[in-house]
Amino acid sequence: EHFELTPNSRLIISKGDITQFAGDAIVNAAAPELLGGGGVDGAIHDAAGPELLEACRRLPVVQGRSIRCPTGQAQITLGFNLPARYVIHTVGPIYHMHEPKSAANLLADAHRNSLKLANEHDLETVAFPAISCGVYSYPPGDAVKVALEACKEAAGSLEEIHFVLFSNNMYSIWQEEASSTLKP
Ligand code: APR
Repeated sequence: EHFELTPNSRLIISKGDITQFAGDAIVNAAAPELLGGGGVDGAIHDAAGPELLEACRRLPVVQGRSIRCPTGQAQITLGFNLPARYVIHTVGPIYHMHEPKSAANLLADAHRNSLKLANEHDLETVAFPAISCGVYSYPPGDAVKVALEACKEAAGSLEEIHFVLFSNNMYSIWQEEASSTLKP
């Protein structure tokens, strides 16, 4: 499940638990408050330990009373007890809150801004979950197209961009899109 994303960057798709990813950074599909939640966010906070929540609380509130990360933006913290050195927290769109086109733009922004942070920190390997495809209800067949296109655009000098998918269904959707649009 390796594909050529750009001449310097490989795309690697696997099935599993992203909290076990032992590369430079994992991306969290967070909520704008960055105070944890369910799904992959909950799993990441559980595995990283309470210091991750402390680090998130120290990030500045940039909007309203509690928004630390507006939809489509990204923030970085250390990974604490995770095998990954960093966590990049991003917020995907809630699908039904937007027109499909602006939802797609926000989902692309979430991927591009995460990769921008990874590049600014000189990271080589980063892993994404299927952002917005759980509680936020983005149709996965559309989300994968947006996600892979954004990764192609914003890969920069990353060597490996991983997608670690939790379910068989999500894994086959990613696998199918990558094999039909990218070279092995
Ligand atoms: N590793 C990889 N993927 C996982 C894991 C895990 N350990 N746990 C869950 N997932 C998958 C889900 O199966 C889903 O396909 O991550 C994908 C994203 O689902 P959600 O976690 O629900 O994320 P999202 O749809 O972006 O919703 C974000 O959910 O937990 C809250 O605080 C979070 O409010 C935010 C919202």
